Amino acid sequence: MPILETKGLNKEYASNHVLKDIHLQIWPGEFVAVMGPSGSGKSTLLYSVSGMDKISSGSVMFEGQELTDLSEQELAELRLNRMGFIFQQMHLLKNLNIRDNIILSTYLAKKSKRSSLNKRANELMKRTGILALAERDITQVSGGQLQRAAICRALINEPAIIFGDELTGALNSKSAGEMMGILNEINSAGTAVLIATHDAKVAANAERVMYMLDGNITAQLHLGKYNEAMGNFRNREERLAAWLLKMGF
Ligand SMILES: Nc1ncnc2c1ncn2[C@@H]1O[C@H](COP(=O)(O)OP(=O)(O)O)[C@@H](O)[C@H]1O
Ligand SMILES: [Mg+2]
Repeated sequence: MPILETKGLNKEYASNHVLKDIHLQIWPGEFVAVMGPSGSGKSTLLYSVSGMDKISSGSVMFEGQELTDLSEQELAELRLNRMGFIFQQMHLLKNLNIRDNIILSTYLAKKSKRSSLNKRANELMKRTGILALAERDITQVSGGQLQRAAICRALINEPAIIFGDELTGALNSKSAGEMMGILNEINSAGTAVLIATHDAKVAANAERVMYMLDGNITAQLHLGKYNEAMGNFRNREERLAAWLLKMGF
């Protein structure tokens, strides 16, 4: 069973028909990137399939549950427990240290004891290389370090899927590369990943790339799982670049 499946998904803002009859499936543990020109509907797609935004018509099934059937409360719980989000506009809070930012939403939902959340946050910060910064305020760390904190926050409840929107957009190329390394590791451990990006270097990490144009998914490229040990990244980038050229990107 797909972890995520849409059928005839439509999203309209007033008279702007942004998503048009989208049928897609994401499988457990899959790593999928959505590319396409600015304004093609990538962000709207992520918001729609993750229950952040109400859809206009169609179906969005997540782990066998129809999202539109859920109450606000049920949806909030599902999102907290099963989904992780790394979106640029979802800022971390000032005057809270990194660790507290990571655990806050879960703690407020009374999901777990503070001590066990701290322990899990520490493990995640260790894994992403920011444990030494745990007590720092978010204004005292770099953009790349903040983005790692955002990853930790997204992972605190061991979600089945991570959604990311232009998650390397504000990072320099070295930080972006490190970020993708972490995301690959998370995905290798079994978490599905669905990201929107305009950056081919980022999308080349995905096993499948979908191309969006004008609210439609017009093409897909299967790159297969990236295996760092095989050192075939260059080849993936070339295949993706050739494909994007064909799409007129
Ligand atoms: N909250 C909103 N209200 C009205 N129109 C929106 C809103 N969000 C996005 N849109 C419109 O939807 C279209 C797709 O936007 P978006 O999903 O952000 O594209 P992308 O992420 O591919 O750049 C654009 O025409 C945009 O203006
Ligand atoms: Mg966008």
